[in-house]
Amino acid sequence: MKKILTFIAALMLCFGLQAAEKKTIRISTNDIDLILQTSPANRLYQVYFGEKLSSSADFSKFDWKVKPGSDGSYGERGHEAYACSGTEDSFEPALAITHADGNLTTYLYYKSVQQKAVNGGTETIIRLADDQYADEVTLHYVAYQKENVIKTWSEIKHNEKKPVTLWRYASGIFYLNASKYYLTNYHSDWAREGQPATQQLQFGKKIIDTKLGTRAAEQSEPFFELGIDGPARENEGTVMLGTVNWTGNFSCTFEVDNVNCLRVIPGINPYASDYILKAGETFKTPEFVFTMSNNGTSQASRNLHDWARKYQLWNGEGTRMTLLNNWENTGFDFNQESLAQLMKDAKDLGVEMFLLDDGWFGNKYPRKNDHAGLGDWEPTHTKLPGGIPALVKAAQNAGVKFGLWIEPEMVNPKSELYEKHHDWVIEQPNRKTYYYRNQLVLDLSNPEVQNYVFSIVDKLMTQNPNITYFKWDCNSPITNIFSPYEKEKQGNLYIDYVRGLYKVLDRIHNKYPKLEMMLCSGGGARCDYAALKYFGELWPSDDTDPYERLYIQWSMSKFFPVKALAAHVTNWNKNTSVKFRTDVASMCKLGFDIDLKTMSPDDYKYTQGAVANWRRLQDVILNGEQYRLISPYEGNHMAVNYVSQDKQKAVVFAYDLHPRFQEPLLNVRLQGLDPNKTYTVKEINLMPGKASTLDCDGQQYTGDFLMKVGLNILTANEGTSHVLELQ
Ligand code: DGJ
Repeated sequence: MKKILTFIAALMLCFGLQAAEKKTIRISTNDIDLILQTSPANRLYQVYFGEKLSSSADFSKFDWKVKPGSDGSYGERGHEAYACSGTEDSFEPALAITHADGNLTTYLYYKSVQQKAVNGGTETIIRLADDQYADEVTLHYVAYQKENVIKTWSEIKHNEKKPVTLWRYASGIFYLNASKYYLTNYHSDWAREGQPATQQLQFGKKIIDTKLGTRAAEQSEPFFELGIDGPARENEGTVMLGTVNWTGNFSCTFEVDNVNCLRVIPGINPYASDYILKAGETFKTPEFVFTMSNNGTSQASRNLHDWARKYQLWNGEGTRMTLLNNWENTGFDFNQESLAQLMKDAKDLGVEMFLLDDGWFGNKYPRKNDHAGLGDWEPTHTKLPGGIPALVKAAQNAGVKFGLWIEPEMVNPKSELYEKHHDWVIEQPNRKTYYYRNQLVLDLSNPEVQNYVFSIVDKLMTQNPNITYFKWDCNSPITNIFSPYEKEKQGNLYIDYVRGLYKVLDRIHNKYPKLEMMLCSGGGARCDYAALKYFGELWPSDDTDPYERLYIQWSMSKFFPVKALAAHVTNWNKNTSVKFRTDVASMCKLGFDIDLKTMSPDDYKYTQGAVANWRRLQDVILNGEQYRLISPYEGNHMAVNYVSQDKQKAVVFAYDLHPRFQEPLLNVRLQGLDPNKTYTVKEINLMPGKASTLDCDGQQYTGDFLMKVGLNILTANEGTSHVLELQ
């Protein structure tokens, strides 16, 4: 026997098949395990992904091979940690390279692993390399233990004699083994963001992606909810929430294979992006962030909220400013005096900032409407003779901070910038140009353009250091795709554009770390965590009809903490009461974009009180734990409560949308309270002179009662709302 074994070992050595020692790599949070192991050939496979395992003693029992079918013909196929094109696996790969010699296959072998502590978690860095080509991939996984969030990305580099072409470059690849998979993806359009669509995934591929260039979203959002073994539910069942941190074309492929395994492949959309990578350069993919929960989506969302506030969102643990914006009120029609008056109005309302929107710039081609001026960031002298300094001064006199709208990545053909720098614009050299909102996109792959875009903010800030906030808009996708800068590397443009944008944002961030910015893109077409590193909040939608907003806010809050979701009271659907509109906006970051003078004295007094309440309670709403209680998708009501981290305080928002006649009204059962604490309930945000009609107002209840029995606060009256403060 011994002789036979020695003979086999000698034979393996002869053929270069020396069995490497099996290596186990465990990436884990408090509740999740992702386990990778090397095969005898030293390739790396995912052997487990799911609920945390209690004993590592079992890890030797994992099998890296896919269970063979009846004829055993699967060969060496397993769930490779970073599956490559051209190998024995014939499903969707994470990586595909055309090597310098034209070869399309890549085989990656395990080289090394390193684990180190990073802020909030542990980073695992795994090095893999091809044995025939000088190509290397480094996989990164940061596991945030407490928040149960894992962030992953990869780095691809090579040292081949000539450039290689990358045509698949996923952020990672994850395999799930379950009986059923239900994907909820979110689609959108202007003023219709965050629309969920659920379907069971069966054999084959489902891809959610966009091809918009400047933004991840519109049509499809860069995040998903995956119900494992059954459709995702709010408080039960296994759910994965994932999102791609990339402010451009993203893609998530979900492929169910012949043995009912689901592979999830998130990353940049490779559409029209065969990327030419020079030797020595590193291609870093965007991060993919995900969490898993066995208690439904609600817990998974809180995982993401906690993680985002601590580790990703700009000033995630800081405060946010309430504001008055002028876009929905004045449009382009304002001047220095009318703005100064609005600043005084903002102060009187009780908000902290006045935000001047579109229409303040351009002289040769003044921005009177959306046909001209983008690119010429000088205040229009005729409209604003004192320029920005006079506005900053007026804000100071009024006692509010000053914020300004910009859209620095864009240019109108009617602008001095376009006349001077045609070569900075993404536009076809030989075809008729078409326009999206009458504008074109600047070529941010070009470092000169990056300098120019940075200089817009830098100049404004240098001249007016008291600007405290920018609303950074982006109203066009990349159209007429052709970069004068990329020349023969046109396939690099979509990716280099986004990288160019990050370079600009990095410079702004480094020079003005306290500068607060809102991420906006013709409503909510930019809603990704890569951008939120630089932006404290995003604008989820131009649709501020309170009914519609309840749906949008419900969906968005699955992935983003409400601290990152700006919500303004406007005149969209002014048939609803000002109270209803304000209560809807109050469940996120409150702002106003409305002509305050059109409000009745009672409505105005009510909003002043609501602003004061929101400012007093912002710590509970923005930093507390959110529990979504009643979904607008499942009935005619919506309710949500927030609980402070110490569980001493809570705020409840309950809304009646379009209830049916004599509809049975169930109690709203709260969540997340301390069952042993006694809470005093008080209805706030009441109209002046009106007392609460709720039986619970002024009563005391244990947390246990509030969570098991609940409160009778829903009504059958269309468009009503109740806000409760619990102490
Ligand atoms: C689109 C944004 O979503 C609006 O809020 C407003 O800023 C306009 N752009 C201005 O052009």
